[in-house]
Amino acid sequence: MSRLIVISNRVSVPKAAGAAGAQGGLAVALNSALREHRGIWFGWSGQETEEFTGHLNMQRIEGVTTATIDLEPQDIDEYYNGYANRTLWPLFHYRIDLTEYDRNFGEGYERVNARFADSVLPLIEPDDLVWVHDYHLLPLGSMLRQKGVKNRTGLFLHTPWPPTRLLVSLPFHERLVSSMLEYDVIGFQTQEWLESFIHYVSKELGLPITEDGTIDYGGRRIIARAFPIGIDFAEFVEGANSAEAREAHDRLKASVRGRKLMIGVDRLDYSKGLGERFESFGRFLTDNPGQAGDVVLLQIAPPSRGDVASYQQIREDLERKTGHINGAHADVAFVPIRYVNRGYPRSHLAGFYRAADIGLVTPLRDGMNLVAKEFVAAQDPEDPGVLILSQFAGAALQLADALLVNPHSTEHVSETIKRALEMPLAERRQRHEKLLASVCDEDVQHWREEFVAALFGQAEGGGADD
Ligand code: G6P
Repeated sequence: MSRLIVISNRVSVPKAAGAAGAQGGLAVALNSALREHRGIWFGWSGQETEEFTGHLNMQRIEGVTTATIDLEPQDIDEYYNGYANRTLWPLFHYRIDLTEYDRNFGEGYERVNARFADSVLPLIEPDDLVWVHDYHLLPLGSMLRQKGVKNRTGLFLHTPWPPTRLLVSLPFHERLVSSMLEYDVIGFQTQEWLESFIHYVSKELGLPITEDGTIDYGGRRIIARAFPIGIDFAEFVEGANSAEAREAHDRLKASVRGRKLMIGVDRLDYSKGLGERFESFGRFLTDNPGQAGDVVLLQIAPPSRGDVASYQQIREDLERKTGHINGAHADVAFVPIRYVNRGYPRSHLAGFYRAADIGLVTPLRDGMNLVAKEFVAAQDPEDPGVLILSQFAGAALQLADALLVNPHSTEHVSETIKRALEMPLAERRQRHEKLLASVCDEDVQHWREEFVAALFGQAEGGGADD
């Protein structure tokens, strides 16, 4: 069995059954994938050092071996806060209004990618599969090739891929995308992002795409394919049945005192559509005065990327909106929005999801969205809650039995909240059964197996791991 060398910006192994925090889908999925696979997880420690040394901090946590490096303040500024989160993240989420172009960001991004390549190089053995993750590290594969790495290498992008018309606004876009073509496999969350990528490669780079969908790049064939990521279903359900989950469930249930409960759980990010969500709930309260005192929205939103101005801005906007809506609709013994800026252990989240009548997952754009899948997995099949899901989340393609909404339309979301609250038990069960089958079958193990098989190459393919 080949070892997996997983490389991502953030290496985040939760201590015991899920530490609190602002974990994104990437950290959660990779943990599960690596626990079942011999290998190493390499990335940034999240720590600063005055001068970069490339020293590897090796650790073994919860069955996963990690190797991390510290970065200089200038690296963090230009690469992480800069090119990754002020340029690529907004651009990949269709927000060119928030996208900043700065030559220093681009240079910092390349410098840090080169530092990653130099530091991980001694860990790579000839038969290892190298699996790189996300928008922070798009050129890493080509840098490893330049340093003589001959291993099979793959990239999985956890975010959307933007339409060509938006991507061409990025200076040196050809150079960035061409560097990605040194990978053997390029994976996307959905067919939609894959199609945008293929469109770019054929229209802007003029490369032929073969009938089976591979890219012909100077005689090399690159597999570009959709691999929708899933949750660790078995682990999540186990957590949902734990004593901590039950306690969290009971505490929350008791606190809403018989009212209906809606829940949202998102990193505090402008792509998650939180402002629009709050406004839609405000509209629901205005349009349905008879129900106004009977429904609570619990929004859990741990802060993220707080050094970036657009994140400070969204935080302020949400504080204002919550204050405004609560001011208009609260009563002496009732506040409609509970807005909480902290993370919770995953077992507690599972209990909260189960306590909720409605899961509100309404991003404006999202690569996949694993909260939607966790919400489904946590429900009681006898009396399940209803999932309201944005049509712009990658997850909507698999979870078509949710109530799909346009998150920009407060009217549509408000009406859908009403519909969900009134949905008969039989319909809730029917929808939930189908959603559950998809979340259970297309889980994180399935995702990993499919990607690793592709990474092995069709010739050797299948049964590659375990
Ligand atoms: C998204 C990204 C991940 C990232 C996570 C948390 O899920 O796709 O790459 O790790 O957000 O963001 P952060 O900047 O805190 O790592």
